[in-house]
Amino acid sequence: MSSSDLKFISRPTSTLKGTARVAGDKSISHRSIMLGSLAEGTTKVSGFLEGEDALSTLAAFRAMGVEITDPVNGQLEIKGVGLNGLKQPDAPLDMGNSGTSMRLLTGLLSGQKFDSSLIGDESLSKRPMSRVAAPLSLMGGQINTASEGRPPLQIKGGKYLVGIEYPMPMASAQVKSCILLAGLYAEGETAVIEPAPTRDHTERMLRAFGYEVKTEDARISLRSGGKLIACELDIPADISSATFFMVAACIAEDADLLLEHVGVNPTRDGVITILKLMGADLVLENERMVGGEPVADIRVRSSKLKGIQIPEDQVPLAIDEFPALFIAAACAEGTTVLTGAEELRVKESDRIQVMADGLKVLGIKHKVNPDGIEIQGGQMNGGQIDSHGDHRIAMSFSVAGIRAKKPIEILDCKNVATSFPNFVELANAVGMSIETSND
Ligand code: S3P
Repeated sequence: MSSSDLKFISRPTSTLKGTARVAGDKSISHRSIMLGSLAEGTTKVSGFLEGEDALSTLAAFRAMGVEITDPVNGQLEIKGVGLNGLKQPDAPLDMGNSGTSMRLLTGLLSGQKFDSSLIGDESLSKRPMSRVAAPLSLMGGQINTASEGRPPLQIKGGKYLVGIEYPMPMASAQVKSCILLAGLYAEGETAVIEPAPTRDHTERMLRAFGYEVKTEDARISLRSGGKLIACELDIPADISSATFFMVAACIAEDADLLLEHVGVNPTRDGVITILKLMGADLVLENERMVGGEPVADIRVRSSKLKGIQIPEDQVPLAIDEFPALFIAAACAEGTTVLTGAEELRVKESDRIQVMADGLKVLGIKHKVNPDGIEIQGGQMNGGQIDSHGDHRIAMSFSVAGIRAKKPIEILDCKNVATSFPNFVELANAVGMSIETSND
């Protein structure tokens, strides 16, 4: 029996109570390994996400000669090798399911003296990489892709990179970060111009390592020639993982959940804005700064949600949260309309279509559009859902089970371990009813 046969059975339940600290932030965990490896000195990390995606990044840097201790309870140490201390890996670097690892590393590796190649799993092998290969080639890099700009990627080393000013065609933190990381090795200044704000963890963490990054409105820039100095990083809980619990508490009949130490960076908090617009009873408590990132405890109680037109400026700020928000929309009174979200089609799955297929099984009326979806709230039935190996789809339908008439069976759930390895355990601890099965 292969682990891809892992399925979840989520049963209706009404009471959710308690306190939970969800898994560490995936985006920040990736960057902690990357920048810690390039720094001078030993970086100490706590709150690291021990999920498969972040572990793919960790393994890649070990393969390039960086000493990194095994994570224990989210703590690890990275012995930085400096900006020019990475060694050529013996074999292609396997990024697994992780788009962030592949896109950010492509930028970083373009600036190295050695050749390298990047591979990924079936889902990652279908995802677009021209969005990073094209600007890197403008900088003088050479990245060869498979057909239609897909992985695997061959990255030529020893190239002389020159800084560019790049107006990004899409709002993407991965593209921005890729270019900035290449910029550490490029002559002069490297700048990106964002069409809309995207998560700024790379900029914040470079600054935490003592590297100057300028943010002037939508223009973000840095110059080569600096160095990164090791530091201590305390990684907050991932707002994207907390989202499943926020939506769960909103839709459950009798809920009061406290989600602790959640990262509430303003470039990631679209889910809070959107849920509040829908009428969620959601309060941020104990707001504080932790290692350059805003953090809060989030209290969420049962809510009477209503359908809304989601403001387009919130889309990049909530890009990973839409599968769960679609479940909130299915439980809301009235219609929720999402537009300007075509990027959802090139995530770990086509999240508009795969969610629509699942909502159809549950009997929720909706209309799919090229750049979004319209969802009419209603009573969800039970049924069998194919998550297409997408972790966030699997967890979203697990949450839907709370309000469905009958159990929801979700197929192909193994990739939940990429971002939230203890999801089922934590969900059940606060009152959800999710069973796992390999049958
Ligand atoms: C990420 C950026 C987002 C997000 C992904 C993680 C990052 O992708 O969907 O899960 O860590 O930079 P895009 O920047 O491509 O939208």
